[in-house]
Amino acid sequence: MFSTPLIAAPMAGGTTTADLAVAVQGAGAFAFAAGGYKTAEQLRAHIAPLRAAGPDFGVNLFVPRPATGLKSARQTGALEAYRSLLLATASRYGAELPSTLPAPEDPRAQDFWDEKIALLLAEPVPVVSFTFGLAPVRVVEQLHKAGTRVLASVTNVAEALAAAGTGVDGLVVQHANAGGHTAAFLPASAAGYSSGRAGDGTLPQLIAAVGAAVALPLVAAGGVSGAADAKAVLAAGAQAVAIGTALIRTHESGARALHKDALADPAYTRTALTRAFTGKLARALVNDFVNDFADAAPEAYPEVHFLTAPLRAAAAAAADPRALNLWAGSGWKSAQAVPAADVVESFLREL
Ligand SMILES: Cc1cc2nc3c(=O)[nH]c(=O)nc-3n(C[C@H](O)[C@H](O)[C@H](O)COP(=O)(O)O)c2cc1C
Repeated sequence: MFSTPLIAAPMAGGTTTADLAVAVQGAGAFAFAAGGYKTAEQLRAHIAPLRAAGPDFGVNLFVPRPATGLKSARQTGALEAYRSLLLATASRYGAELPSTLPAPEDPRAQDFWDEKIALLLAEPVPVVSFTFGLAPVRVVEQLHKAGTRVLASVTNVAEALAAAGTGVDGLVVQHANAGGHTAAFLPASAAGYSSGRAGDGTLPQLIAAVGAAVALPLVAAGGVSGAADAKAVLAAGAQAVAIGTALIRTHESGARALHKDALADPAYTRTALTRAFTGKLARALVNDFVNDFADAAPEAYPEVHFLTAPLRAAAAAAADPRALNLWAGSGWKSAQAVPAADVVESFLREL
């Protein structure tokens, strides 16, 4: 499936720049373009340098929630209540919180799914990976016809079995130690995450369990902060290992300076899974916003993402990390401010 054991995980929201992807690819890792949050046009521009740089790379997309499903947070007033709770913090930053949010069927709430799938079918890429849900079987088949290998992201055995049933070629198996959003899509998986149960086993244990249940190539992700971690997951049966947080501080990463600096700031002592920023559980450094709002945030992605966006933008403009989503995996302390190729080479030397 992959000609290298090291994969640079896709990091949407600005961290994975084309420069970062091309740099890791040049150093011998497999690079993913981050398609999340982008329109099709933006994705095409993001892919172009990778296509020019080498024959093998991937594109990652978010699978949107069905437009017809899960309107409960809107219906119960949970979003209104959360908005009210955020108002004082928002006004401190001079931010205006939207009073209307994109409807479920709005292309923004669907993360521009239709147009990005159309793009990837018209201009095929070697690999497409999905997160936040399973792509419909029809889409997997269309991608296969276009010559694309397809990966699904999962967080446990039940999700792995469901993903295998859609005909994908491999799985990205993400442990709860991973930085950023969880890939979990079955309701029971999300429940396990919030209670901490999903984090009980180690990544090698998760790989062994998934490997025993499905006969597909596995990419291991989550909390891999050095070659020793990587070797352990490869020994457990993963074909490759993906790193995200280890690349956030690199020179080519597009993460904000505030985010990069926070990862090296000893004032931050832990990470936590929180819905506070987007309504979907994501692992971040624990700052004031996480402390103040983690318990109150409703399970409503992407609505909470749109609700808090102006607040986060205002905090960034004020160079204040206290209300920023400082995504970080459990191995954040090892992230280095060096060229991305150095990180890749230091892993590959030992794998
Ligand atoms: C800043 C950031 C953004 C991320 N964005 C995405 C994304 O767009 N798509 C995705 O599938 N995973 C995303 N992830 C998760 C990674 O793909 C991967 O699972 C994770 O980084 C691995 O754990 P680690 O951060 O401990 O290395 C993101 C992670 C981080 C830290």
